Amino acid sequence: MTEPIPFSTALRERSSGAHSGSEGAGFMSDLIKGDGTREDYIALVAQHWFIYEALESAAERMRRDPVASVFITDRLTRLPALEADLEFLIGPDWRERIEPLPTTRRYVERINQVGATWSGGFIAHHYTRYLGDLSGGLFIGKLMQRRFGFDTNGIGFYIFGDIADPKAFKDVYRDQLDAAPWDDAEKERVIDEVLLAYQFNTDLFEDLARAKAESEAVA
Ligand code: HEM
Repeated sequence: MTEPIPFSTALRERSSGAHSGSEGAGFMSDLIKGDGTREDYIALVAQHWFIYEALESAAERMRRDPVASVFITDRLTRLPALEADLEFLIGPDWRERIEPLPTTRRYVERINQVGATWSGGFIAHHYTRYLGDLSGGLFIGKLMQRRFGFDTNGIGFYIFGDIADPKAFKDVYRDQLDAAPWDDAEKERVIDEVLLAYQFNTDLFEDLARAKAESEAVA
């Protein structure tokens, strides 16, 4: 008999097309290729603030959930780093100078919804952001550092000071996904939610590209 595929493997395989879609979105690939500006980078950091504010508020609520609490750790928390980055990049009045784009509003609404009611859905969003941050995110942080001459100010979001070995951390995370007490129907729902999370990220890159084109048109 062949071994069943672990859930974490199925999840990665089933979402790899959506991952390529997010990774290849024009706004992101321009940033990676070195065609994006410092303003583009700042616009992305600002949207991250709204997303992580929702995700990490949901995590506070989910700490009491027996399934979700296993995934929640302060070692992942990104909000303080994002706030320090925004203060450095925009200035002390950064809070009044940023606004969520339409996709960010929808993304946040969805995180708030599942974060209040459904641990599997919350974990789907948690996985999509943090495992991404600990994978491609580390590489993106180094690229931004080089491109814009940052030291650590401005890219604190990409520095996980409490995670010395991201690969080992991700392996444990995948073991935890495999150990989650989900039946097949729930596993399908979690995969669908991960695909939705990727779609929000891809749509956000499109919003960012549109906002940039609009601001260039009025300039
Ligand atoms: C240019 C942008 C990106 C690059 C270069 C990139 C690159 C990568 C790489 C190389 C891995 C594999 C790491 C490993 O095997 O441990 C990975 C995994 C991952 N990425 Fe990305 N990524 C990008 C954008 C994104 C975005 C926008 C998201 C969603 C928010 C995302 C979410 C993920 C997730 C969840 C994983 C873990 C998959 C798993 O092993 O289960 N990535 N990424």
